[in-house]
Amino acid sequence: MMRITELKASNMNKTAKLEIEGKIYELPIVEGTENEKAVDISALRAQSGYITLDDGYGNTGSCKSAITFIDGEQGILRYRGMPIEELAQRSTFIETAFLIIYGHLPNEKELQRFSGLLTKNENIHEDMKFHFEGFPSNAHPMATLSSMINASSCFYPELMKGYDPTTFDIVAARLISQVRTIAAFSYRKSQGLPIIYPKPSYKYTANFLHMLFSDPYEEYELKPEVVWALDLIFLLHADHEQNCSTATVRFIASSRANLFASAAAGVCALWGPLHGGANQAVIEMLQEIRASGDDGHRFIQEVKDKKSGKRLMGFGHRVYKNYDPRAKIIKERCDKLLAALKIDDPLLNIAKHLEEAALNDPYFVERKLYPNVDFYSGIIMRAIGIPVEMFTVIFAIGRMPGWIANFKEIMDSKESRIYRPRQVYTGPTLNGYVPINERD
Ligand code: CMC
Repeated sequence: MMRITELKASNMNKTAKLEIEGKIYELPIVEGTENEKAVDISALRAQSGYITLDDGYGNTGSCKSAITFIDGEQGILRYRGMPIEELAQRSTFIETAFLIIYGHLPNEKELQRFSGLLTKNENIHEDMKFHFEGFPSNAHPMATLSSMINASSCFYPELMKGYDPTTFDIVAARLISQVRTIAAFSYRKSQGLPIIYPKPSYKYTANFLHMLFSDPYEEYELKPEVVWALDLIFLLHADHEQNCSTATVRFIASSRANLFASAAAGVCALWGPLHGGANQAVIEMLQEIRASGDDGHRFIQEVKDKKSGKRLMGFGHRVYKNYDPRAKIIKERCDKLLAALKIDDPLLNIAKHLEEAALNDPYFVERKLYPNVDFYSGIIMRAIGIPVEMFTVIFAIGRMPGWIANFKEIMDSKESRIYRPRQVYTGPTLNGYVPINERD
């Protein structure tokens, strides 16, 4: 029998008592700055022979981190203590990236230096261009992106020497800047279009739009509201504590792999439709609903029938049991952008119907399923003209500062060890090798 009996304060140190088969184990309680409480079980196996089991890590803290705070019950998200709503209103992606990586808002000099490093490192190594030729034109850009980020590390041999805090700024800026260049180049390649080089005079997001949409004979017209909307999407995706891709980055970093290798793995984890791939899946779902002549109500009934195997993409979240604060901000910006561009997107109407129907339906209410960041972001990207296969790439560009900050946290920590979870084995017990002629 096992039970956790009490929390007590002894000599200022709180402990939990865990009783297993009549024996009591005292486990330290760890408290975060926002009163998040955890039972430290790191010594439990050594003391008792037991491990804890938490499939999918729904209740497992894998690290202590000072980067991002989420209160999923209340719908709160803060980067380094700063509310996402305030950053969305007052900051830019690049300033926020600095905040996430270095822990404070940059002063003017710091911001200038950071921007300078981004500009200086915006071009990928010229030889990298040939790597694009190796991909079929219909390659998914997430596959190209992760491969190219990993391949980039070959061009920087100093990365192989291990983490060096004195050159970290340059490596980090190189990755933030080049992920955008690689993303734009892979899009151009997939369209059979010539590559457009970055323009040093443009700021980060404007430069990305330029590399995506300019042509050698015609410059893309940068509309402030478009730049603003895409910059906001990057900013809102910049970090989200221990989600699947960030945990993956930390995992890889814990083995002391380099930043580019760790980020490439993050891109792969992000690709899945239950994670970053959901923004693409949302638009595909809305298109399917539209093509079937439904306004969303029929689809909601299908989703509730588990046998259909369908989910309302862009809804639900492991941590948020309330409206995702990012979704609120994006929805507002989506309305503003479409109005400014005079776009009437029928998919937006279907999305709004779906949201209204779901928020009033006991199935979704009981399970606390609310729109997440992906529900409306795709509509903004469609309005900008970004093709649906690029949506998750946009998420990856935005998430880069968070991955980098988590990588840095691992590397700077004296306590960090290689990640190595345990398991409860459920396979066959000992049985010997059977020669092939004696097998059934
Ligand atoms: N549509 C219909 N039912 C859902 C949905 C949904 N989108 N999400 C969860 N449920 C149901 C699920 O079937 C289960 O029902 P029951 O208790 O009857 O078995 C219950 O709600 C709990 O779901 P869960 O799968 O145990 O929840 P989870 O925490 O493991 O999964 C999630 C979280 C985000 C993977 C899930 O909500 C989902 O698949 N959502 C759709 C995909 C999506 O939008 N993903 C983007 C997440 S936000 C961006 C990011 O962080 O990547």
